[in-house]
Amino acid sequence: MQSFFIHGPQEVYGSIEVGTSKNATLPILAGSILAKDRVVIENIPAFSDIDMMVRILKGFGLKIFKRKNNLYIHTYHKNSTIAEEKYTKQIRSSIFLLGPMLAKWKEATIAYPGGCNIGARPIDIHLEGLRALGATIDEKDGYLICKGDHMHHGELTLKFPSVGATENLMMASVFLEGTTILHNVAKEPEIVDLANFINQMGGKVIGAGTDTIYITGVKELKGITYRPIPDRIVTGTLLLACATLGGKITLHHCIPEHNESLIAKLIESGCHVKTENDIIEIESTKKRKNVASVVTGVYPAFPTDLQSIYMVFASTGKGKCQITETIFENRFGIAKYLNAMGAKISTNGNTAFVQGVKKLKGTQVVATDLRAGAGLVIAGLKAEGDTTVQHIHHIDRGYEKIEDIFRMISVGITRQS
Ligand code: UD1
Repeated sequence: MQSFFIHGPQEVYGSIEVGTSKNATLPILAGSILAKDRVVIENIPAFSDIDMMVRILKGFGLKIFKRKNNLYIHTYHKNSTIAEEKYTKQIRSSIFLLGPMLAKWKEATIAYPGGCNIGARPIDIHLEGLRALGATIDEKDGYLICKGDHMHHGELTLKFPSVGATENLMMASVFLEGTTILHNVAKEPEIVDLANFINQMGGKVIGAGTDTIYITGVKELKGITYRPIPDRIVTGTLLLACATLGGKITLHHCIPEHNESLIAKLIESGCHVKTENDIIEIESTKKRKNVASVVTGVYPAFPTDLQSIYMVFASTGKGKCQITETIFENRFGIAKYLNAMGAKISTNGNTAFVQGVKKLKGTQVVATDLRAGAGLVIAGLKAEGDTTVQHIHHIDRGYEKIEDIFRMISVGITRQS
């Protein structure tokens, strides 16, 4: 099992281009099933979650090739509608396959999905929504056996604006005759990107980015070439790295509006942040203000995916702050390791109380999930002495070689086997 060796403290300097969003690309890959002919996804990121989704699609018989950074998906070679457990248990996003598979092939058998260990992560909203659109779903031996022959349009209200369920139901509805109306949906930028992808293929999706989405059924969707949006969580990770470590960096190829909630908190905490077109520049000076408290929420509120990385920033920031997690019930896993490095964090229910300390000290820590892993890398860079981060396969799920990303901003991290 690989680990990272980090010698700190280090500051960040330089400029870097942000890559493509994992969370936008995954549903788009699943949605490529919907096209009647070839789909090309440009600028495909090299994350292990993406590789896993491609393996699942290949398992259906689809022919998929990668040339340079582009992925060519030939959707007409299907010979199976079963997604096996050995793949689905590795990625939670395998659940989005149900929608496009039912829409296109009228059947889907998938093993229960896995994913990051950050809470119970039920799939009831996905299943209730698909059933409300007429799908039949039986659960047997850890598999969901689904049929879509009698699916019909409908109007439904999600009990929580789940990102994955919104994406799943949007894709499930694209061929249903009439207009399907989904209320209380997620408004994340990745939802808008998926709607744009479907619409460019010839679909009729209106309202993505608002609380209600209208999907009018079309007969077929054509193959297209599509470039998903830049990764707002990688962008946020780099902004927080600079805020924590000190220095000055410029991020290119990002959408500043997608990080507005974080940028507001960084400015409130005394960082200098400037945005222009697709560029964000951040400078973190020694003159800090008290670190702002945050409460995670659905977009456009502060993203849960940046919560543990923000905790690293708060750990060595000025003053006391509170971090409240409202999306996942088990997302403070990083606190134990930060405390082992000298941080002062206590938790009570869904709130963490962080008292900033002057220094962290290097030690051996374990990446418990993807974003906590990225947070621990930054903590290691901040700490004095040597830090080893274990279980880094979690980090590879959502960062394209984080050591290469950090090398671009003058930071050294060694991957060791
Ligand atoms: C997506 C993101 C993930 C991010 C999360 C919240 C992808 C691949 N992943 O995950 O990085 O952290 O949004 O922004 O895009 N829930 C239920 N029942 C369901 C579905 C969800 O109770 O059927 C609950 C979840 O347990 C969680 C909350 O709803 O507490 C949010 O989950 P959801 O928005 O579905 O997250 P994901 O789509 O899994």
